[in-house]
Amino acid sequence: MSKTIAVIGGTGLCDWPGAEVLKETVIETPFGMPSAPLQRIRYESAEFLFLARHGHGHEIPPHAINYRANISALKQAGVGAMIAVNAVGGISERFVAGVIAIPDQINDYTWGRAHTFFDGSNGKVEHVDFSYPYSQDLRSRLANAAVDANIAFEDYGVYAVTQGPRLETAAEIRRLAKDGNDIVGMTAMPEAALAREAGIEYASISLVVNPGAGLGDDIITMDDIRAVIDTGMLQVKSILAHCIAD
Ligand code: HPA
Repeated sequence: MSKTIAVIGGTGLCDWPGAEVLKETVIETPFGMPSAPLQRIRYESAEFLFLARHGHGHEIPPHAINYRANISALKQAGVGAMIAVNAVGGISERFVAGVIAIPDQINDYTWGRAHTFFDGSNGKVEHVDFSYPYSQDLRSRLANAAVDANIAFEDYGVYAVTQGPRLETAAEIRRLAKDGNDIVGMTAMPEAALAREAGIEYASISLVVNPGAGLGDDIITMDDIRAVIDTGMLQVKSILAHCIAD
């Protein structure tokens, strides 16, 4: 890819096993420190920047992530396109555990997060278009990469972003389903909107790690989630390597 590309890794991808870390840079931003130092890594034949959204020890919960510092750090590093990796719950029929999705829409249910660079402090009111929160071009590249890597995926999905860190109630999942959501996670917002404000192309590769609350036979356990992550993230990494090496 011609632009400098970054991957933001989420739950299940706080580090990149099998990668060579070429460089690590601590970046300070006007908004504070990002979740982790920015790493330049090589994996298979792809070279790119990597940021651990929750920190390398998975110590920062979704609502406490400094999203502005993360996007600002990537902007300072010259990033023009970023791929978010998200672990999510499944809501609609096709999105069962283990499915990989390239979502195309977002519903934002978060609150109280520092969610904009355009907070009026520069004396201007600015509104970005956000009709299509994910870059169609980057989504297509991910889809082509998945085909190249021979990995099945769903080429759509409405991502409901909840506040967390608790999972939803069964009633909340029923409401999210009525709202037209396919998957549910806690980190796509304000990340996607900040990327748009910063002029960085943004797409997500989302791994369904559990059925949404009330949809499975049992309650959701971290052990079940971990089992899906172990195999699913290998596939996610393979798609990313194909996408970036192209
Ligand atoms: N809900 C919200 N976020 C999640 C889930 C879920 O079921 N699974 C993984 N992240």
